[in-house]
Order: sequence, then structure tokens, then C-alpha cells
Amino acid sequence: MMNLHYTVKGQTVTLTSDQGALILTVLTDQIIRVFQDRGRHTNSYAIEGEKKVETPFDLKEVGDHLELSTGQLTVTVGPDLLLDVFDAQGNPLILDYRGKRRPIAKTIDAAHQSIMRAEGHEVSGVSQTEDRYYQVVKALDPDEQFYGLGDKTGYLNKRSYHYDNWNYDEPRPHIETFTNLYKSIPVLFGLKKGRPWGIFFDNTYRSHLDLGRENADYYFYSAVDGNLDYYILGGSSLKEVVSNYTYLTGRVPLPQRWMLGYQQSRWGYSMSQDRVEQIVDTFAKYHLPLEAIHFDIDYMDGYRVFTWNKNIFKDPAGFLADVKKRGVRVIPILDPGVKEDPDYRIYQEGLDKGYFATNPDGSVYVNRVWPGKSVFPDFGRPEVRDWWAGHCRFLVDSGAAGIWTDMNEPAVFDGEIPEDTVFSDEDQKSDLARMNNVYGHNMAKATYQGLKKATGRRPYVITRAAYAGTQKYSTVWTGDNQSLWPHLQMSIPQLCNMGMSGFSFAGADIGGFSADTTPELLTRWIEAAIFSPLLRNHSALQARDQEPWVFGPKVLDIYRHFLHLRYHFIPYLYDCFAKQMNDGLPVMRPLVLNYPEDARTRNLNDEYMVGDQVLVAPVVEQGQVSRMVYLPEGDWVDLRTMVTYGGHRDILVEAPLDQLPVFVRADSVLPWGRLVEHMDDQPEESMTFRLFGQHGDYTHYQDDGYSFDYEQGAYNLYQIHMENQGQCSVTVTHHGFKPVYRRIRLVLPERTLTLSLDDKSQAPVYRETEA
Ligand code: NOJ
Repeated sequence: MMNLHYTVKGQTVTLTSDQGALILTVLTDQIIRVFQDRGRHTNSYAIEGEKKVETPFDLKEVGDHLELSTGQLTVTVGPDLLLDVFDAQGNPLILDYRGKRRPIAKTIDAAHQSIMRAEGHEVSGVSQTEDRYYQVVKALDPDEQFYGLGDKTGYLNKRSYHYDNWNYDEPRPHIETFTNLYKSIPVLFGLKKGRPWGIFFDNTYRSHLDLGRENADYYFYSAVDGNLDYYILGGSSLKEVVSNYTYLTGRVPLPQRWMLGYQQSRWGYSMSQDRVEQIVDTFAKYHLPLEAIHFDIDYMDGYRVFTWNKNIFKDPAGFLADVKKRGVRVIPILDPGVKEDPDYRIYQEGLDKGYFATNPDGSVYVNRVWPGKSVFPDFGRPEVRDWWAGHCRFLVDSGAAGIWTDMNEPAVFDGEIPEDTVFSDEDQKSDLARMNNVYGHNMAKATYQGLKKATGRRPYVITRAAYAGTQKYSTVWTGDNQSLWPHLQMSIPQLCNMGMSGFSFAGADIGGFSADTTPELLTRWIEAAIFSPLLRNHSALQARDQEPWVFGPKVLDIYRHFLHLRYHFIPYLYDCFAKQMNDGLPVMRPLVLNYPEDARTRNLNDEYMVGDQVLVAPVVEQGQVSRMVYLPEGDWVDLRTMVTYGGHRDILVEAPLDQLPVFVRADSVLPWGRLVEHMDDQPEESMTFRLFGQHGDYTHYQDDGYSFDYEQGAYNLYQIHMENQGQCSVTVTHHGFKPVYRRIRLVLPERTLTLSLDDKSQAPVYRETEA
């Protein structure tokens, strides 16, 4: 007889024992939700829409356990409500730990904890004394690695470290002991003896993950409050597990094509029109591609959002139109803090409507940010998001091509915002404790919706704070890094883990934000970042200049060379973005995602892949002019020399200052973009494809590059087949976007073919012509 009772309703099984209740819901055969009601609001900011699909599953009583199986995942629960997860072959993936935790801090007595704190040391971990605290402890295998968790510092594999989920503006140089930064993306991917699994903890309250740091026998998740609400993610490969996560929380919508081009930023540019013009002119003078210039807080009138400083910009719309005529777009910044100023329209309006966060006594909460005393829109409320979205039109009317949302952790200057400050959770009154981690998410979502409505184009939002699911609305950057070699090194695992956590569109400030870059660091940074989805050089007001030309002709030439390489790769990156809408896999990714069975990839911090075909191994050490590169299985073609190397081994490659080791998987085809200084909305007349190796196939995507028409099928798919010694062909397999290429060039190791559109044919057909 089972001491465990259960009821089944549709795909939901409710289990009860004297330990309480646990609810399992089968969403798909590879996603199962585990839920325990702890009396908190059950809405999710990460997951939108119905994700449950009709899925048959079996329920069996085995001894005193209940076993639920979808065929892909099996979950067993006993009367103690401990839960174990197994894969399709019955291998253990996620097992509740049967022992007791052995907290480290407990072994330090209170007196010593307090003297440690007095000297400034952190005695960390979520306090277990909070009455609403809970924890989930899982058994750790000696052969188990962890990935994901968003923007956390440190290395690719998160095993042996611990982290907090609490969005926070950390001004100190980011180092691997920091447990939290600007974003909370509580998704964890594991490889247990090479077998992949994932868990997404959908709880916005402050939470903690200890991944074998406290003890090598277990890892645990704990939270100070909220429901127990997590999703078990299965899949036959690590890719499939990641894809299930992005199925659940959403995928990055297609960016406008130009968003993949080069962007220049610096706090201080928008202090004068002359400075902006000088930057735009100098890019043109040196024939450097430039798509956008970012306006930091200086363009505003006293840092009031939705205003222009009219002493600097007499006619903002006229000026921005002028800059645009030179091919360059402007992306102004918005902070959430609204200046407390009775003569300021936005403040008055928000105050009249009751749109700002309040103290528990109902008075408006005030703290200091750039504008001085400021108040904070209550973005958790739909009507506040609509209000904000409506005001975004102001910037669009001035000619803004996108909006950069900053300081939305939310960051403040006078102490921390008390956790009982009243912020809304949709239609319910709530507090900062619950809403902190989704404040940036809701601001980015509002901004996205405002831009979409005002422009009809694919919105460009760049946010610093985010939660799981923000990828549906915004690209992200990794915040205030510094011009330090360790920060260049860290940007690779950080962006790879961001990618695994659903953020296909992400980047770090190239050159470093604070501190002073050096010619060598800037050069290595542009090389290392050249394939990162978001390509933006940004620096702080007080930092040394770091535009491509400031260190003389040598750095300038190298910088230009790599910007050209980027532009050659833009069609490939765009194809990767189109692909990820279906497969949900990141553009920039760690090798372990593509080769999880290869143990060498599991701790690889200084290489990354772009899609499945391109491997990048930048130099990220000062003074280094050669490096070891680990190549996984298969053959790899060095893009610089076209020499092929066998994989599954380390090779030593030369990499003087002007060289970036890039390898293309042998027997593959890549599109090769045209060099331009600015991208526009005109459809391309022609496209080039290059073959690496002896033969290859490739699917290429084309659309107008800016509208949502692709959602109605307005795109083209080209199937490219290339053989060095044999027949090559180009077939249009989907023709929904009217303009097709007029000419297609196929570049093979031993010959080049030119194909032209057959004007006589109704459907697009290409025939070989003379070059
Ligand atoms: C903090 C942001 O992280 C940084 O990029 C920006 O330049 C400053 N705020 C000033 O707005």
C-alpha cells in the first residue's frame, strides 16, 4: 500500500503524503513542471502563452513510489515527496539528495562571523532563518558539470561555485567570486556522466544556487520566498535540452539586419553635436563601417527621460535625420528613474496616475540617481508599461532607431531600495522582494512594445537588467566591465552562458567600459568579439578614448580588417538568427553545446563557436603571439591559410597581433557578405557562397531585413549544394519575399562559378553564366 495519494487531471498529477503536496504537470514529453504551492502569486514573467501540448504518459505504482513516464523522461516520487528524474534509457539525471546539508557557515561561530564581516568579508548564502525560506537539494555526481545561469562571472563550467539571483548594479571590477550581477536567469544545464539535463527555477524572489561548493556530494537551490516552481528539461542531447528551455521561455525574434553591424558608443558623445559629427566623420574618413552611435545620458535635459537638452540639440529630429543621411542611426538611452520635478511633464503625469512605486505607507518612493531625487515607474503593472511604451514615440519621432535601457536592476545611489517598497505584480500589490528581478524585464518589454507600435519595424532594445524570457524583447550587454585582460577573458564564457540561457543576442562592451584600454587590449578585444552577436564598443566618461583610430595606423588597420571580416559574416550570422527561431540554439556558443560527449570541451573557456560551422580561438593574453587551439572531432579549415587540420587534438597556431585564429568545419558552405560602410533596407542584388573542403550543403535565409512580414511567410530559402569536383546547384525552396538575388557566386577551392537568375522562368531558377 502506498502512503502516497495521487489524483490525475489531464496532464497534471497531484501527489499528497503526510509531507504535503506536490504537483507534476507534463508539458511535453521532455518538459515536466514541479510545483508546490506556498501561497504566492502563480503568474510567470518568463513563460508566456500555453506551452502544454497533448502528451501521453504512464503512471505506475512501484512499491511505495509513484512513477510517471513520458517515454523520454521518468520521474519517481516517494512518500517523502523526494523526486528523481531518469532519461529514456533509465539513467539518473536529477536525484533528490537523501542526506542532510552540511553548511559551511554553520561551522563558523557567530562571533567569528561578525568579526569577518567587520573586516569586510562576505559570509554568504541566503539566510536559512527567513521564515519563508526553502531549499531543494540534489545529489552531485563526481562527473557532473554545470552551465547556464545567465551573466554570472567566472568560468564556463559553474561547478564548485555558488551564485545568487538578485539583479544588482555592481560597480567594482567583476571577478569570479561575485555571486550576482545585473541579470537573473535561473536556468541550469547539467552533464551528468555526459548525459544532459536542465532545470529552470521560475521564482523571481532572491535565490541562491550552490553547485558543489558547500559539499561535493550535492548541489542545491534555495529561495527566500515564492512557490517551489521548477521545470525539468530533458532531451537526447544538450542541444535538445537548451532548445526545450527556449521553447518554454521564448526565442530571440529576428533582429533588423543592420543591428548585426558595428556600433560605437561612449558616455559623453552626446554632450555636443560637434563631437557626434566628428565621430561619424572620422568613421567615414577612415572607411570604417558604422551602423549606429549610442547616446548616453548626456543628451537629456537634466537627465529627465523623454526630453532633449535643447542647449545641445536645438533640432534633435533635424540633427538625427542628418546623421542618418550619412548612414548612421542613433540609439538613445533611457533610465527608469524619473526626476522628481513638479514642472516636468512625465513626473507630473506619472504622479497623477499613481504610476510610481511607493513606500508601504503609500507615499511615493524616492531615491537618488543621475537626475537627483527620482521616482520609479511601477513596470509590473500593464497600464504603466503602456504609458511608458506610449512615450517611446517621443524618441522615435526624434529619429531614434532603437532604445538602450540602463540602470534597471533598478540601480540607486542612496543605499538599497527597501525590499518592502511597494511594486506591483501585474494586478496585485507586491513588493521589491518579488519584483526586483523582473523590473528590467518589464521595462524592456514596455520599451519593445512602444517601439514596435511606433515604428512597425523589429524593435531594437538593449537592456542591462533581465530575467529569464527577456530575450523575447531585448538584446543585452554585460554591463560595466573594465579595460582589463581578465575581463576580455571572462567575456567569452559569460557570453557563451548567456547564449545557453536563451540570450542569442548579447555582447560585452568592446575595449572595456571603465579603466583605460591599451592599444594591444583594444586590438585583441575587437578580434575576440568580432563574432559576438552584439558588436558595440562602449566606454565610460572618464576612461581614455578607445575609438579605432586613437592608437595610430597599425591598430586602425587591424580594427578595420576585422570589421570587414564581420561584414563578410553578417549573412551567416543572420542565417544563425533565423535558424535559432526554430531550433532555439544560441548563435555564439561554447564548444560543449556542439560536442558534449567530448570531455575536453567541458571546461574550455577561451574558444567559442558561431553556429555549427565556425570555431573562434582568440588571443586573450597580453603579449601572446601564438596559442594552442583545441579542435573537436572532424576536419577544420584555417580561414586565414585554408590549411586543413584533423580534429580531436590540440594544435599550436601563430597569432601575431593582427591575426585571429578562425576555423571552418571542413565540408561546409558559408555565405560571404559584401563589404559596405552602412547597411540599408535595399535588398541585396547578389550573394556569394564559399565552400570549405570538398563538398557541402547550406540553407540560406533572406527577407527584407527589417519588417515583421517574415511572420506571414515573406522570406526566401535557398538550398546551396557545392562540390569541388562535381555539380553545384542553387534551388529556391521557399519563395515568399519577392526580390531574389539576381546573381549568385559560388567560390570553390579550385574554381568560381557565377549563376544568374533566369529571367524567362516564372519561379526563380539560376543558371550558370560567364563570370
Ligand atoms: C551605466 C551603464 O552600464 C553604462 O553603460 C552607462 O554608460 C552609464 N550607466 C551612464 O549612463
